[in-house]
Amino acid sequence: VNVNGKPTRTIWASADGAVEIIDQTALPHAFVVRSLRTVADVAHAIASMQVRGAPLIGAAAAYGLWLAMRADASDGALAAARTALAATRPTAVNLRWALDAMMARLAPLAPDARADAARAAADAIADDDVAINRAIGAHAHALIRAAGARRGAGEPVQVLTHCNAGWLATVDWGTALAGVYAAHDAGLPVHVWVDETRPRNQGAALTAWELGAHGVPHTVIVDNAGGHLMQRGQVDVVLVGTDRTTAAGDVVNKIGTYLKALAARDCGVPFYVAAPSPSIDWTIRGAPDGIPIEERAAEEVTTVVGAAASGATTRVRVAPDGSRAHNPGFDVTPARLVTGIVTERGVAAASRDGLARLFPERAADAAASGVP
Ligand code: MRU
Repeated sequence: VNVNGKPTRTIWASADGAVEIIDQTALPHAFVVRSLRTVADVAHAIASMQVRGAPLIGAAAAYGLWLAMRADASDGALAAARTALAATRPTAVNLRWALDAMMARLAPLAPDARADAARAAADAIADDDVAINRAIGAHAHALIRAAGARRGAGEPVQVLTHCNAGWLATVDWGTALAGVYAAHDAGLPVHVWVDETRPRNQGAALTAWELGAHGVPHTVIVDNAGGHLMQRGQVDVVLVGTDRTTAAGDVVNKIGTYLKALAARDCGVPFYVAAPSPSIDWTIRGAPDGIPIEERAAEEVTTVVGAAASGATTRVRVAPDGSRAHNPGFDVTPARLVTGIVTERGVAAASRDGLARLFPERAADAAASGVP
């Protein structure tokens, strides 16, 4: 997308050999680009959520291995870098997927060939992410158009989204929001209800920022408002991203997604999940119970962060001193509540058969490797 008229991705390699990122902890109050120079810098950027969103986490990890191989391309350094990056965040399967793809490419090579190969492989992962998201955008655009068919001519289609599944969560374009951008750019009037997405407020801070920068009309709502809006017919379609979707179509996404799916089902509102294929975990075809759900700091619940009148970023306490807090980062929306999964190959039914029909080679690989 364009930022201040300049085509911008969320991550890129600089001419002097650094990995540049947009620091998402500074948004929406400041647009800060940071240079990462070591694999430890990249691990810190992922763990601290300077970069976040499942596809971007995967791309960042790939570039992290490139930086590691530039410093030391030995087998030991490669294994250590993989371990450090894999430990940063547990839920988004794109992290494991990108690291596995990089290891398959790099491990068989002689050490002196690894740095160049790592750069090429990381660039390919980033470029593929952009292409995948464009394709998802085209499919999601069609769904948004269909969902708004009951609206009068010129009346905006009402989309509700949760967390940030926009370009900031990917290398470019986003997943769920790729469809919104495609619809908006094609001249379809669209309005987005943006869940604030406590505790870290990725909706209020990031989704609202990027929709505003692209000129897409939107309104931030508290997380608890979505059901009420759906009951009143003010939402035509719910569109969210995913950190991991199982081969059976169960969807792990930001905490609160499940409640939106329940409300959508009760109100007859279609609930779609935008899932690039690297977000599909082909190793899980049964119950999603074993998926690690990230437990985050209690401080994210007991406090909120924002800009003070002075412009300085400030953390203020909202819960009483001494109250405990529990902060699971993700939840599981069962496949039965999902209207469809929007992939780069089209829209799949949220089921084993539906996903296998679109990705027969992946389903066959999983079956061949003994996934029950
Ligand atoms: O904790 P985050 O901000 O990394 O969580 C992000 C989400 O839950 C997104 O919805 C998901 O990664 C899909 S991004 C295209």
